[in-house]
Amino acid sequence: MLNGIIIAIDGPAAAGKSTIAKKIAQKLNYTYIDTGAMYRALTHKAIQLDINLNSDHDLTALLENTDIHLKPDGDNQAVLIDGIDCSEEIRSHEVTAGVSAVATHMSVRKLMVEKQRELATGTGVVMDGRDIGTAVLPKAELKIFMTASVDERAERRFIENESRGIYTPLEQLKQEIEKRDQSDSERAVSPLKMADDAVLVDTTSMTIDQVVDKVIVLAEMRMQP
Ligand code: CDP
Ligand code: CDP
Repeated sequence: MLNGIIIAIDGPAAAGKSTIAKKIAQKLNYTYIDTGAMYRALTHKAIQLDINLNSDHDLTALLENTDIHLKPDGDNQAVLIDGIDCSEEIRSHEVTAGVSAVATHMSVRKLMVEKQRELATGTGVVMDGRDIGTAVLPKAELKIFMTASVDERAERRFIENESRGIYTPLEQLKQEIEKRDQSDSERAVSPLKMADDAVLVDTTSMTIDQVVDKVIVLAEMRMQP
């Protein structure tokens, strides 16, 4: 691919990372990789099989025997676990509540990072998560740290849930987001933090299109002529 670069987008929950990453990938004809969906997929399967979410050993063994496949699906990305489409299930309340615990384990992360790097071979990649610019793809040409105020992020998740027919009180969503951000930022292995060479994009009062335009401009500045 001509002028293909690697774009890493990290940031706290519901900052708009995956929405923006997907649109950027469409516009630039890049591959999009949602690493949060991979941690969610493992968490979903572990819950289904009643595996202890605090056991690094059991979760790593499970991950070694799990096929997680991200498949473009129109404007979205389908998530297949062992060949079965679980795109909806991995967004459940139960998975959301358990995923940060799963993501603290060192061996789980090591294996996930290997899988993520394999998916990112070649150029023209947009990957979003928590540790992409700092650990998974430290040589990415463009690193974005995407944030928004926690009130705005809770509000966005509330609206998104409503559109999926799910009602969770706004205050509860805000508390859950804060708890997950805290766990993701304080864990020992690859915590959520801004890479030194990342560009901070605060989307609190920006529309989706404004954020997309901003990231495209930053990407174009990094593409070779
Ligand atoms: O979309 P949302 O912000 O709710 O979360 P996500 O991107 O689907 O990620 C779910 C969880 O996976 C995060 O809260 C982290 O605990 C974990 N995660 C991670 O540790 N590292 C990544 N690269 C991506 C996600
Ligand atoms: O991936 P992450 O958890 O960071 O966030 P997301 O799932 O992409 O975005 C959460 C919600 O915020 C989605 O429903 C987006 O449509 C919405 N959003 C927004 O309203 N304004 C933005 N600038 C970005 C996202």
